[in-house]
Amino acid sequence: MAGRIAQVRGDITRLGVDAIVNAANIHLRPGAGVDGAIRRAAGPAINEECRHLGGCPTGEARITGGYDLPARWVIHTAGPVWEGGGAGEDALLANCYRNCLVLAAENGLRGIAFPAISTGIYGFPAPRAASIAVTEVRAFLEADDTIEQVTFVSFAAEDFEVMAEALAQP
Ligand code: APR
Repeated sequence: MAGRIAQVRGDITRLGVDAIVNAANIHLRPGAGVDGAIRRAAGPAINEECRHLGGCPTGEARITGGYDLPARWVIHTAGPVWEGGGAGEDALLANCYRNCLVLAAENGLRGIAFPAISTGIYGFPAPRAASIAVTEVRAFLEADDTIEQVTFVSFAAEDFEVMAEALAQP
């Protein structure tokens, strides 16, 4: 199990994995943050494909091609906006991770990389989000043998430390 979870610091758009996950909005409209980086690196065709998907409710996931990215696929998920923790944010964030993994497995993908969904513009506290991410990924991998590797990608050094701490928990 431990060998199936990796952690890197850097730009998710550079990873040559089967799928990278995008922290999108529910309309799948172009955004900033990791979404902006992914769309810039993928090229305009990804916007066109997103436009035809009809959005993505919070916690769900949708798949498109990766176009000019090294990753073959992009799995878009809309994370919850942090409203203080009493609006079901934890469960919605857990749904994001689980539904991305389900979609990856359904498509026979073996490697998937996640950014820290909801922890940027949407304001979800990073340590709490990291713990949810690790719990969901571990639970999924225990029950699935399609996905060989899940990579957590941290953009900032402090986010990398936060994720390392979450991964160090049993
Ligand atoms: N590679 C990896 N991680 C990145 C990158 C990148 N190139 N760019 C940003 N990040 C990190 C941020 O540092 C943060 O930890 O991704 C995490 C998620 O941040 P956001 O992109 O702001 O995503 P989120 O908080 O889920 O907000 C989603 O932002 O772009 C809009 O349309 C999007 O409305 C939606 C909202």
